[in-house]
Amino acid sequence: MKVRNYIIAAAALLMLAGCTCNQGKKVAVVYYSQTGNTKVVAEAIAKTLNDLTGPDGKALFNAKLVSIEPVKPYPDTFEATIEESREECMKNLGREIKDPVLKDYDKYDVIFIGYPVWFGTYAPPVKSFLEANNKLAGKTVVPFCTYGTGGRVNSASTLAYNCPDAKVIDSYGISDKRLDQVDDEVSFFISTIAGKLLKDCCKEGECKKDGECCKKDEGCCKKDEDCCGKHAEGETCTDGCCDKESWRELTEEDSAIFAAATENFDRMPLEPLRVKNVTLPGANRIYECITETRFGDKPKAEVYVLVPAGEGKPELTAVER
Ligand SMILES: Cc1cc2nc3c(=O)[nH]c(=O)nc-3n(C[C@H](O)[C@H](O)[C@H](O)COP(=O)(O)O)c2cc1C
Repeated sequence: MKVRNYIIAAAALLMLAGCTCNQGKKVAVVYYSQTGNTKVVAEAIAKTLNDLTGPDGKALFNAKLVSIEPVKPYPDTFEATIEESREECMKNLGREIKDPVLKDYDKYDVIFIGYPVWFGTYAPPVKSFLEANNKLAGKTVVPFCTYGTGGRVNSASTLAYNCPDAKVIDSYGISDKRLDQVDDEVSFFISTIAGKLLKDCCKEGECKKDGECCKKDEGCCKKDEDCCGKHAEGETCTDGCCDKESWRELTEEDSAIFAAATENFDRMPLEPLRVKNVTLPGANRIYECITETRFGDKPKAEVYVLVPAGEGKPELTAVER
């Protein structure tokens, strides 16, 4: 993670901890993990939350970790799991899970829901969990995932579509090859959604952003009513908040960065069209690209790239289609 991002994350977490409204909402971190990657992220999220203290030194959260377990586990190998899950995924079937109803469901305000991306979306046991728990109606929901190539954006929007009465906010995802970055990235991510995790102590018609109350109609992104602050000229909405940079033409440097980041990526052809700077966990640039499917279609894809602060090589961190 860039040093600057890390400083922002640390400052925002301190702000959260020092906020006068020092009561965290009740949080459950629910996840399905077949091979352990998503479990690592779930544990990092719970730990980050549970380490936060208010001005009185008391813990702000007591986030509960809950694992979703299929009644019949998937096979041990990747290929056999692909075979066994393909139909479930294609037909959106779900898979029977143990103890489907979340214990103490009513007491949670916020549910983090984690999964591996399978066939571009959340794995079937998560579908069964959503069905058994009233599609998380009335809850604030934070999707998180791990993936090989990408799928955070599609899986989170599918989840929001399938849970129309839940308030699905920003999502976090990390590639299975970058799990060593998870602690820093999760701290940064939690700092970006911090205002939504504290009990709202603002006046009627106001909401909280970065520890301050402001009017809801000043939301920087229309899709996110809790995100206040003016939406400045030229800003766009990325992942629920203002994004200072908008799309721009590629410079020679942008193209060189893209070439370096995608050097070893041979899953699909990627032709970059334009780029924008972002501040996300795991990415500081997004390239809009044309790709090509095996049927000859040429859909667009967004390629997330992390350019390290020092001399390191730019990294491709996700391909979102
Ligand atoms: C059946 C199956 C389908 C998968 N589909 C995708 C996919 O569509 N896109 C992707 O980026 N990764 C895909 N993956 C890779 C997993 O998302 C990734 O390895 C993940 O980190 C596994 O998480 P876990 O260890 O928590 O089970 C797939 C893996 C399996 C087993």
